Amino acid sequence: MIKVAPSILAADILKIENQIKIIDESGADYIHIDIMDGHYVPNISFGPNIVKAIKKITNKTLDVHLMITPVLPNIEEFIESGADIISFHPEADTNHNEIFEIISKSDCKPAIAIHPDVTVKSIEHLLTKIKLVVVMTVVPGFGGQKFLESELEKIRLLYNYKKNHQLNFEIEVDGGVNNDNAKKCINNGADVLVAGSYIFSKEETEYKKAIDSLR
Ligand code: DX5
Ligand code: ZN
Repeated sequence: MIKVAPSILAADILKIENQIKIIDESGADYIHIDIMDGHYVPNISFGPNIVKAIKKITNKTLDVHLMITPVLPNIEEFIESGADIISFHPEADTNHNEIFEIISKSDCKPAIAIHPDVTVKSIEHLLTKIKLVVVMTVVPGFGGQKFLESELEKIRLLYNYKKNHQLNFEIEVDGGVNNDNAKKCINNGADVLVAGSYIFSKEETEYKKAIDSLR
């Protein structure tokens, strides 16, 4: 079954503990945590401390999406904070091997995220080293943006690449996902759907329905 990863960027920061508990009980698979540094992206969100805090209140997989540059100096801290998956943007750091090496020494799964301006071709050589790839369907930086249909093709390209090379990374789609476009993502080969505003704009009592509707 398709996995759903609510993005807490869209949660109410003052109610986040309760909202995460509801998401947890509503069948979310991963909890997607967007880390933005005001440098790789123009927005600033959370740091490792939020990962650490969330780790204490849920057993769900913490899917940490780093929108930071450089990446290498901060990797260790996110691992120690309890991240289960760490994705980074390859163009944000040149030290890919060192980053993968540090992650491989931990229980954490390595992942990369693909900005709409980055081609699949240009990151193909990294696909044997990762367990998940994030296809960005918005320009990273903000929640609540419109889904870019143009990126569906990347999901398909990655799906075919995975099959042809017998690899087993998951394909995660991130940005503007809702019940209108979820099916297109799934049909093109997505394994995980991230959704922020689609879920958290609903009443807390409707989170489960929203998660289910994406599947
Ligand atoms: C965008 C983030 C996304 C974002 C998704 O830079 O990486 O994870 O939180 O939020 P929605 O679903 O509102 O587009
Ligand atoms: Zn994200």
